[in-house]
Amino acid sequence: MSVLSGKNILLGITAGIAAYKTASLVRLFIKAGAHVKVLMTPASKDFITPLTLSTLSKNAVYSSFTNEEDENATWNNHVELGLWADLFLVAPATANTLSKMANGTSDNLLLATYLSAKCPVYFAPAMDLDMYKHESTKNSFNTLEGYGNVMIPATSGELASGLVGEGRMAEPEDIVSFIESDILNSLPLNKKKFLITAGPTYEALDPVRFIGNHSSGKMGFEIAKAAANLGAKVFLVTGPTHQVIEHSLVEVIPVTSADEMYVEAHKYFNDVDVAILSAAVADYKPKKASEKKIKKKDSTLLLELEKTKDILASLGEIKQNQVLVGFALETNNELENAKGKLKKKNLDLIVLNSLQDKGAGFGGSTNKVTIINKDGSLNEYELKSKTEVAQDLLNEILTHINA
Ligand code: CTP
Repeated sequence: MSVLSGKNILLGITAGIAAYKTASLVRLFIKAGAHVKVLMTPASKDFITPLTLSTLSKNAVYSSFTNEEDENATWNNHVELGLWADLFLVAPATANTLSKMANGTSDNLLLATYLSAKCPVYFAPAMDLDMYKHESTKNSFNTLEGYGNVMIPATSGELASGLVGEGRMAEPEDIVSFIESDILNSLPLNKKKFLITAGPTYEALDPVRFIGNHSSGKMGFEIAKAAANLGAKVFLVTGPTHQVIEHSLVEVIPVTSADEMYVEAHKYFNDVDVAILSAAVADYKPKKASEKKIKKKDSTLLLELEKTKDILASLGEIKQNQVLVGFALETNNELENAKGKLKKKNLDLIVLNSLQDKGAGFGGSTNKVTIINKDGSLNEYELKSKTEVAQDLLNEILTHINA
């Protein structure tokens, strides 16, 4: 999943020959999971048709304050369009439009929307080489960058005039990756690595049976998604679950048993900044799994179990600078037990869910947690969706990372 997934992108097209490339640009944004609305200057319609763009963007295309052909015309509200957008890209951006943007001229819908937009603004210039080099164009670039707008530089090559030089609009693929990495660089967990364990573990009794538990894996997957959305690279070691996650920053490492989870967790731990162990790991496993299916011979069957390795505690022993987070599911003496685990396993934070709270724990989509810090301070949260709980946890982790 791209960082553009779910984002509202307003694409402003101005009258340059590179406008023909915006069809690909819209398709790439849609493919990345973004919602796209297109705004055109009237003259840009000579270079690409609104029909092409409305078909590709699956949205109406806007180019004037009203629709002149419709006698019941409604007002195309530039303020609403500006507020709808999570980001506004002007591509191709001509010297004329850039100069007007720099000087606050608003004689068309695109320019009025630019002045109303509160979101990040990107512009991809496209013009002939002498225009690109002209002092007045450079002044526009500098002024716009001074406003906090981001320039996606033009490249060199053959231009529509036949001249060769700087001024070609960046290719659509490069514009998309430029914006993606710009967004990533601005995220608070950019370049941080997370190890997250999730789900249950299955401990084999024989080739067809196992001892497991009801963990759905939902909480761990929500944490993985939230961390990746903040820019972290996530290694998600998960036991068997029905959860799915598609995110370019999340690598899923499927495991079955506690032993396998132990091995994978240790493989990644030394290289991460944060480890969050939310998996419901089996505390015991059959001492010996039968190679053949166990037959029902006797009226009772005795199983001999042995302890699994405590993954969290073992990471606590080798911890260097990592922020280590554990979970505790308790039924009684909750706070005391959770604080005990935090200390014993050398954790920085522990997330306590009490089974006495309605809506907390396994299976459901809500959770009610108390997050306890190693300094003894704690935050008790309301009953929330697991998505929101993941956010709360990451906010607490951010304070540890930035400390
Ligand atoms: N955990 C782990 N490896 C295990 C058992 C637990 O990594 N073999 C982790 C869990 O992912 C969780 C934390 O330890 O983050 C707490 O697990 P829990 O089962 O509640 O605590 P225990 O220490 O096993 O104690 P008890 O079962 O007696 O409450």
